[in-house]
Amino acid sequence: MFTNALALALTVFGVASSVNAHGYVQEITLGSTKYTGYLPYSDPYYNPVPQRIVRKIPGNGPVEDLSLIDIQCNGWSAGGAAGSAPAPIFGTVAAGSTVKLNWTTWPDSHKGPMITYMARAPSDITNWNPGSSAVWFKVAHAGKDASGKWASTDILYANNHIYSFTIPPKLKAGQYIIRHESIALHAAYSYPGVQVYPSCIQVQVTGSGTALPTSFVSFPGAYTGSTPGIVFDVYQNTGAYPIPGPAVWTGGN
Ligand SMILES: *[C@@H]1O[C@H](CO)[C@@H](O)[C@H](O)[C@H]1NC(C)=O
Repeated sequence: MFTNALALALTVFGVASSVNAHGYVQEITLGSTKYTGYLPYSDPYYNPVPQRIVRKIPGNGPVEDLSLIDIQCNGWSAGGAAGSAPAPIFGTVAAGSTVKLNWTTWPDSHKGPMITYMARAPSDITNWNPGSSAVWFKVAHAGKDASGKWASTDILYANNHIYSFTIPPKLKAGQYIIRHESIALHAAYSYPGVQVYPSCIQVQVTGSGTALPTSFVSFPGAYTGSTPGIVFDVYQNTGAYPIPGPAVWTGGN
């Protein structure tokens, strides 16, 4: 049972930790259907644990070592685990529709890009762990715009902490992991320093499209200390920001 005392303690902790903290996706809207995200400060304490479409994350902190499996879905590599644990359920979304991701409080110092990938599950997504296979393709990214506004702070705040992207309209139906991340650059003047906040959402894409990408990246693998945009002096560099990772696949729109 979830006792009131525990609930209170968690609430206090949650509020306290948001002072200097970072964030995660607390709500997902697929088309017009809203799903609660995986809530790391309350979900684990329920019995039974609520079923979410998001893979478990340990908390609101970052992954800083780009070589770890943790960079994939914010799962754990500690103890020799293979990375993220699949979530028990998945959401449903039509190709071409908008996905809205509601982020918790995010500090203004944590400027950086927001990037979204997908990977097609070869079989049941509630059992699939991609490991270090190259299966990911980028479907959206935003960094610093021409007027100097950053995706993860200025643009996110202007949208009530809602980040949106579109499922490629011609993407072939099937089960996919959506890997979404915010990358904070406040300490990224050298590597290590960058902070990555990834999470993975399980969906069934519907539609009559037939398009699939032909080139893929892996996590870990896609980013290293020498990938453009992983090291960037956010305080001094007033120039353009190179968003890490491959070009966006638009699916032959
Ligand atoms: C984001 O999610 C929180 C928690 O469920 C909710 O209170 C808030 O209204 C949501 N924001 C928007 C803009 O829907």
